[in-house]
Amino acid sequence: MIKKAIIPAAGFGTRFLPATKAQPKEMLPIIDTPTIQYVVQEAVDSGIEDILIISGKGKRSIEDHFDRNFELETRLAEKEDEMLHELRRLSDMANIHFVRQKELNGLGDAIYYARHHVGNEPFAVLLGDTIMDSVIPVTQQLMDTFETYRCSVIAVETVPTDKVNRYGIVGGKELSDSIMQLETLVEKPALGQAPSNLAIAGRYILTPEIFRMIEQTPKGKGGEIQLTDAMLLLLSRENVYSHRIEGKRHDIGNKLDFLKTTVEFALKRKEFEKPFLAFLKEVIQQYEQ
Ligand code: UTP
Repeated sequence: MIKKAIIPAAGFGTRFLPATKAQPKEMLPIIDTPTIQYVVQEAVDSGIEDILIISGKGKRSIEDHFDRNFELETRLAEKEDEMLHELRRLSDMANIHFVRQKELNGLGDAIYYARHHVGNEPFAVLLGDTIMDSVIPVTQQLMDTFETYRCSVIAVETVPTDKVNRYGIVGGKELSDSIMQLETLVEKPALGQAPSNLAIAGRYILTPEIFRMIEQTPKGKGGEIQLTDAMLLLLSRENVYSHRIEGKRHDIGNKLDFLKTTVEFALKRKEFEKPFLAFLKEVIQQYEQ
């Protein structure tokens, strides 16, 4: 059973500047809920009891968000505001711990900070800037595959063949419609040279052997320690599987994806569905004229 999850959330968020100059991209809200709260909720819904968030410079608001705010709670209690229960639920979601990544040396380095907390057991990784929209929580889907193979499992999603050069792409032997035993991983392959059109999608189950692999991983692209490079090393030691997720990935660190996610999530909310759809139709009509 996987009981621990790591949420890396220390990155600069340069793709979302200037909004991310003084606030974490993981706190950018989709409607009224910060991105990282959706991520924590997915972990909790998958049965995770213990979460370690990899934090860093300028990320204090993430800690405050999952902490109690007694002054605010007292004020809401006086006003008998329903939001009080939501705020209390938020601070009781799971055992949430924090560790600071001192220098931003990449995702592999961020995960290495979790080694003492994780110990010698497999664990889940959920990128703090990526929301999954699915019926069965995506981390739960990966855990089910882990239970079968007892090896690391990477979430992947199908991407258009002419866009494979934007992603980390997996290749290997197909075991079923959704599972592949990996033979290779390629970061941003040239068009026509990708081993598949399955892209790494921001969720992982990793065995603790990954920490030894990160230690041996030299700095790669951008002078950073890339998790994909460490996973390639892991692949030479252990079996690694990919699981094609049922659901949709939203990368909030990308401005266009952020806008699309806001629109899709707003249309799913009962209170906004009708007025927001009417508004969108009006806007489209104006543009078409
Ligand atoms: P990204 O590569 O999307 O984050 O990492 P970034 O570096 O902040 O992005 P840009 O390109 O500058 O906009 C995915 C997740 O991993 C975390 C990020 O916070 C994000 O949630 N991360 C990345 C770390 O925790 N540490 C790092 O050194 C890099």
